Amino acid sequence: MKRWLTLCLLLTLLGPAAARAELPRVGICAYSSRDTFIGSLLGQIRERSQGTLDFQIVYAQNDQNRQNDQVLQMIADGVDILAVNPVDRVSAVYLIALARQHNLPLILFNREPLREDLAAYDNAYYVGIDPRQQGELQGKLAADYFRAHPEQDLNGDGIIQYVLLRGEPGHQDAELRSLFSVRALTQEGLRVQKLAEETAYWEKGLGQERMAMLLNVYGHRVELVIANNDDMALGAIDALKAAGYFAGAQTIPVIGVDATAPAMEAIAQGALYGTVENDAAQQAQAVVELAALLAAGNAPTADNFPFPMTDRVVYIPSRPVTQ
Ligand code: GAL
Repeated sequence: MKRWLTLCLLLTLLGPAAARAELPRVGICAYSSRDTFIGSLLGQIRERSQGTLDFQIVYAQNDQNRQNDQVLQMIADGVDILAVNPVDRVSAVYLIALARQHNLPLILFNREPLREDLAAYDNAYYVGIDPRQQGELQGKLAADYFRAHPEQDLNGDGIIQYVLLRGEPGHQDAELRSLFSVRALTQEGLRVQKLAEETAYWEKGLGQERMAMLLNVYGHRVELVIANNDDMALGAIDALKAAGYFAGAQTIPVIGVDATAPAMEAIAQGALYGTVENDAAQQAQAVVELAALLAAGNAPTADNFPFPMTDRVVYIPSRPVTQ
């Protein structure tokens, strides 16, 4: 107690700079600086940690070896906690072993490690969303649309012909959103046929390119576009606009995931039919609160940590968004 009072007195005398120096240091390693959703997640982390944690952020630009070096550097710099958005979720096994070796708490986020890897270190956590739930919500949005707009079955064959734009291969969100969106559509009683699927790595530019190509091949046979995220959905909308859609009566339901700011704008304008929120604010809040607890040497419990956690995995719930 006496030491604590002396410390407070010292901090008051030395002013805000000294107070900042006492904050726990969190080393954040993000997979890329060019990802819209990750950008907003990091912005929220920055905002929500002000005055409580000292964050330092580095970007791996999609290179796992580079990220491994960055993590080693963070450890050498003496950070108190690591928060890593792995380039390759399977390689998280190495990062978990490193953190364990140095006895550092590790928060992985957005790219989910394998459960057996996470289980190997009891001071390793994951914060993200349940991509199955997000896929299901996408499928339900599409089903709602076709129930309200039977005329969108353009060829009247009673089957919805769709194209799918996938994120990165091997990313849990790409694999599971793809699977569960289509499964939910059929569970809702709709008959579907996949015309084609293309991988567009979460990127708007690639989404546009791939969609333009699909329109060249399939033209008006496409009745629905499902995209694993909003950036690819917005790219698809650009290609559709260039092909004359959304100008007059000719429209097409496009459904994404994330609810980024540009996606919300596209929904308001009536171009993007719907999206599923990937709640960046709550994921950031969970990372910040978890980091603060771990920095103080406390394990999260139902009493001190207000987010649902199972086996050190935190899934923030998602909700559908339309006009
Ligand atoms: C997903 C998100 C994508 C992309 C990806 C990066 O959860 O929906 O837009 O940011 O994470 O790992």
